[in-house]
Amino acid sequence: MERVEIFEVGPRDGLQNEARQIATEDKIALVDELSAAGFARIECASFVSPKWVPQMADSAEVMAGIVRAPGVSYAALTPNLKGLERAIAAKADEVAVFGSASEGFSKANINASIDEGLARFEPVCEAARAKGIRVRGYVSCVVECPYDGAVSPDAVRRVAASLRDMGCYEVSLGDTLGRGAPEAVDAMLEAVLQELPAERLAGHFHDTEGRALDNISVALARGIRVFDAAVGGLGGCPYAPGAAGNVATEAVHDMVTALGYETGLDRTVLAQAAMRAKGMRSAR
Ligand code: HMG
Ligand code: MG
Repeated sequence: MERVEIFEVGPRDGLQNEARQIATEDKIALVDELSAAGFARIECASFVSPKWVPQMADSAEVMAGIVRAPGVSYAALTPNLKGLERAIAAKADEVAVFGSASEGFSKANINASIDEGLARFEPVCEAARAKGIRVRGYVSCVVECPYDGAVSPDAVRRVAASLRDMGCYEVSLGDTLGRGAPEAVDAMLEAVLQELPAERLAGHFHDTEGRALDNISVALARGIRVFDAAVGGLGGCPYAPGAAGNVATEAVHDMVTALGYETGLDRTVLAQAAMRAKGMRSAR
């Protein structure tokens, strides 16, 4: 059976946007439950400025408190060298830099232009490589930007190629706003696939308008087999006003399983984790 990997981002992308301060021990319990569900990669920390994203300020404590399951890569966001140092100290297995295909979001999210952001990521990639830590690259706003409107496929292609050139092992394409139409996603993928093969790409769809599963279908047809998702549909981005959570992991699992792919995930444990995640969200 052909495999689709779901990259679980709930503990990071899901929780970073919660207004209520979630207890560190609750975050740890969520990650531990996700480890038992069978994910190969779980993004559970973000070493960004705590002034910008207070919810992620306890990332080092989360990384220290989780029980690491063998074979699972515990990932963290690192916007700059300071973030990378913190991630290394916390023993992150892999890190991610995150750029944008639109200027407006880049400025709002990392206080830098697209090119300034890319220039900052280069030394992060170099230093991570020296430590044997692999780096994933995100491109945000691959179809639409909350500040600049429609984003051209060529802009996405250019940023994805830069991330590849600096050594990112995989580039995750983010519909940050969650409003991308499948036709626009398809056109964007066509452009990016001229630079990177499908095996080095992932789809990262937020689900504001209920189109994420359709967009995953489009990406599957283009050969992409890795999708980021958040258990229970947690999340949103603090710098993308109006954006809803990531597509729910359990929904992606059910869809791709029905299409004949295997995910390697335990559906029962996944359901428990989804309940736990939803409880964290509603308990505001
Ligand atoms: P800045 O204010 O321009 O940075 O922020 P700075 O270098 O001038 O530093 C300002 C202060 O922050 C200094 O402290 C630094 O030490 C500190 P002060 O001297 O004022 O006390 N600082 C840090 N502290 C801890 N860890 C660090 C760090 N860096 C600086 N790593 C910066 C620039 C990039 C830091 C800031 O804009 C930032 O943290 N942005 C992150 C925003 C964010 O986390 N957004 C959500 C994640 S992205 C996302 O969700 C999209 C994604 O899911 C894909 C998709 O959906 O599209 C990935
Ligand atoms: Mg996201």
